[in-house]
Amino acid sequence: MAADDAIRSVTIRPGFSGGRDPSYRSIIGEGLLGEVRARTNEILGGRRRTFVLVDDALDASMGATVCSSSEGEPASIFSWRATEANKSPEQLVRVLQAMASARLDRSSVVIALGGGLTGDVAGFAAAVYQRGIPWVNCPTTLLSMVDAAIGGKTGVNLETPGSAPLKNFVGAIHHPVLVVSDVTTLRSLPDRQFRAGLAECVKHTMIAVDWGAPELPDWMRANLSAVLQRETPALTELISRNISLKAAVVEADEHEQELGPGGGRMALNLGHTFAHAFETLSGVMVSGLSAPIQHGEAVALGLIAAARCSAALGLVDTPAADDLTSLVTLCGLPVSVKGLPPDDQVIARMMQDKKARTGILRLILPCGRGRVQVVDNAPPAAVRAGLAAIRG
Ligand SMILES: NC(=O)c1ccc[n+]([C@@H]2O[C@H](COP(=O)([O-])OP(=O)(O)OC[C@H]3O[C@@H](n4cnc5c(N)ncnc54)[C@H](O)[C@@H]3O)[C@@H](O)[C@H]2O)c1
Repeated sequence: MAADDAIRSVTIRPGFSGGRDPSYRSIIGEGLLGEVRARTNEILGGRRRTFVLVDDALDASMGATVCSSSEGEPASIFSWRATEANKSPEQLVRVLQAMASARLDRSSVVIALGGGLTGDVAGFAAAVYQRGIPWVNCPTTLLSMVDAAIGGKTGVNLETPGSAPLKNFVGAIHHPVLVVSDVTTLRSLPDRQFRAGLAECVKHTMIAVDWGAPELPDWMRANLSAVLQRETPALTELISRNISLKAAVVEADEHEQELGPGGGRMALNLGHTFAHAFETLSGVMVSGLSAPIQHGEAVALGLIAAARCSAALGLVDTPAADDLTSLVTLCGLPVSVKGLPPDDQVIARMMQDKKARTGILRLILPCGRGRVQVVDNAPPAAVRAGLAAIRG
């Protein structure tokens, strides 16, 4: 096993509501997949029957490394096609059936190996199987390492007749016992997916002062080139800094009760209400690209729109909004879109965001460098200024 001084580690301490202490470590480093089972056994005590849910897009050697990484009973491996359409109750049932066929019991453990989709499904399956068994998350995308794997949210989408699938509509908060971010896995991640994770890191720079990491924006700018080249030390540092920040938010406000600065966990929704509209309205494309807009790209644009909306309200100065646009550009993320419908339609879609309150447009907006606040019913002119800034 790698010596602990060769890896980074962040402890996450979610609210203690009785029973087992829910604190867990998130470890970050190179070549950690081979240690997952031994570390899991160490945490849970003794060798456990193990079920690995793996994204079938990953190189088969990754799953094999996890499975062969401990003596004792062979692990069962179940691979799935990780898509939003497949992140469904039907798929959940298939996973649960496979877990039952593998004779998992309450002393067994589930390991997720893949991006946010895989973690959400595996974590939810672990949450409901025999009323809850332990699980370990091994995220393999930058987005899942810095965001999805921290906070314990698990779940699937729900389709209802006659409406678009409701994202993450059925789920549970079920914290893993360990998160293992092996930065080696990021080598195969397509560029666009890698940048999607950077959009969440940019978002974290915008709440960094509120959450005790005022140096994060400068660190990110100074190290961006090494990060973009996927150099291991820079990636390890980037991921651990971002996990620490998200952990601080989640620990303060596990159940989204607006505890903490900028609306507590709600602050993590910065840029996402705009993004929700950009990614769900048809025909919206990144300027210069023909492929449909992706989530991380929509988030980057949403951050810019939120900053420009704030500038129109006088909550931040224009240079701060300019700096954000330049950081987004340096990350290789888009700063404009084409095909965006008229403002009224976009605003109507923003009000359908699941985080919106009925009849209220609720936005998280920057209110100074590294700080945000909740703004209900922002004047339409300011929202329009945000949208104008990203129209290509
Ligand atoms: N639970 C949470 O708190 C939380 C937070 C944010 C997002 N999410 C969820 O996470 C999902 C998005 O996560 P994601 O962006 O990690 O998506 P993902 O799991 O879909 O992965 C993105 C794509 O990359 C591929 N992939 C994954 N790892 C790879 C690797 N190492 N090499 C090559 N290809 C790889 C996948 O097959 C997929 O095509 C969404 O469903 C979202 O709802 C959950």
